[in-house]
Amino acid sequence: MVRRAATAMLALAMASSAAAGERERAVVVPTGDFGRAEPYEAMAGGAATSRKKADADAFSHPSANLSLEGELEFKVGNALFRRLWVGAPASTGSADGLGPLYNARSCQRCHLKDGRGHPPRGNWPDDDAVSMVLRLMTDPTHPPTNEARAQGAVRHQTLGDPVYGGQLQDFAAPGLEPEGRLHLAHAPRPVALADGEVVTLQQPLYRVDALAHGPMAPGVTLSPRVAPPMIGLGLLEMIAEADIVAGADPDDRDGDGISGRVSRVVDRASGQVVLGRFGWKAESPSIRQQSAAAFASDLGLSTTLFPAAAGDCTPAQEACIDAAGAGESPAEVDDESLRLVSHYARNLAVPVRRMVADARVLRGKAVFYGIGCVACHRPKFVTAVDSERPEHSHQLVWPYTDLLLHDMGEALADGASAVGAAGREWRTPPLWGIGLTATVSGHTRFLHDGRARDLLEAVLWHGGEGASAREAFRALSSAERRDLLAFLESL
Ligand code: HEC
Ligand code: HEC
Repeated sequence: MVRRAATAMLALAMASSAAAGERERAVVVPTGDFGRAEPYEAMAGGAATSRKKADADAFSHPSANLSLEGELEFKVGNALFRRLWVGAPASTGSADGLGPLYNARSCQRCHLKDGRGHPPRGNWPDDDAVSMVLRLMTDPTHPPTNEARAQGAVRHQTLGDPVYGGQLQDFAAPGLEPEGRLHLAHAPRPVALADGEVVTLQQPLYRVDALAHGPMAPGVTLSPRVAPPMIGLGLLEMIAEADIVAGADPDDRDGDGISGRVSRVVDRASGQVVLGRFGWKAESPSIRQQSAAAFASDLGLSTTLFPAAAGDCTPAQEACIDAAGAGESPAEVDDESLRLVSHYARNLAVPVRRMVADARVLRGKAVFYGIGCVACHRPKFVTAVDSERPEHSHQLVWPYTDLLLHDMGEALADGASAVGAAGREWRTPPLWGIGLTATVSGHTRFLHDGRARDLLEAVLWHGGEGASAREAFRALSSAERRDLLAFLESL
């Protein structure tokens, strides 16, 4: 939260509601200079920002300030990110080890164009659920047995289902059955805006069909997540922990209705409890660990961080364990490959902003500040310094996130309890590049499970700590709302 800065900058003014018969509403009008763009505002990723064309490849360029050697390694990392893995044993040698259970055969398959994934467009047999995964979580009201606790789940620290593991894999090596299939239905959820327009949100309803080993354990819940966009991750990784912690207000001492909690997770390399930043629930402390977790549970490939050759198969899945053979070593993906993939993921550049100085965009920016979006979507940081990573060091960046967990209300909740975050808690996602979603990914699905069909719906889904900002948004005039959306489109 940027509450000190925000309160200093904001003044309260009254304005009348556009809708007839509604009570007077308070619109917070920022007093800052919103008449022109701020210095360096367009360079959302600092000197690492890509100035290349805003086309379908806009998310795939390396940090602009990367050294020549860094660029070469980026290319090698990209090749690993795109590599189609095959099951072992294979004549290709170094590209084998896929599965036995997996969700996709390459990183790129879910992180298409390094952009965002989307929910399936239909149900089996015409689904394409591949850019979405179903994490399996244990409900805290059904505490896991000590045995389950000891086994842990392959992905992060969630415990998952004793048979199906921490994630549902919908593909399997020949001779093995996929674990199950996601089935998606919708219920309408109408929301009226102050100007009379009614928006009908789609509440997703998830179920798993064709379960290979019978029903899941009682209390196991589904946590569907689409692949997030991959840009600017190295810069987020370099935001100083102290700056993130400074924004947290877990007990809401300032009484603004917005708390914000730091996610604490286990760093697998050191065994220490550290700050979590990556994933929709900030369950992963680093790009390296997130990438290794992806190799383990999305592709079924072991690394030194996640050494189980059988990936997410549990001891109860005997055929799967047998198929994996090999045991724990050597890692199917070696440390150097993991380093190169992580380097690639760190250096996908944030594109330069468009239309920063446009009058409508600037009016929309004033609304974004005025109705409290910045309480979580914190506009800017200066990154820390690391001599090993000069391209990410000491950069003024504009991610529009506080990297904290917020209670976003029951409608967005997944009913789960990751060790780091509760069902209603989600990490504020960065908004940089969000205006290029259609250009890069060919769709405009937003939020952790892609339920929102455009930016307007994404804002209307905000609840919990985000409810007052949503209400202020709902009360905007059509012109103010259009301005705000124009600002988001310029990011
Ligand atoms: C089956 C689809 C799928 C595949 C394959 C996949 N990912 Fe992901 N990726 C996701 C999803 C879903 C998330 C969000 C995870 C979460 O919220 O826990 C994610 C998150 C990430 C993040 C964190 C992004 C952020 O904004 O926090 C990184 C980094 C990442 N993946 C790297 C990789 C790498 C490297 C590979 C290949 C080894 C890979 N992914 C393969 C679906 C996939
Ligand atoms: C209390 C903190 C909070 C406030 C206030 C808030 N947001 Fe968010 N925002 C979030 C979180 C957390 C998510 C992710 C929720 C999810 O995926 O289920 C999110 C998601 C979004 C997304 C979708 C991002 C994506 O990558 O899919 C947009 C767009 C957005 N917010 C815009 C806004 C706007 C505009 C406002 C002001 C009206 C606002 N937010 C206020 C926390 C907040």
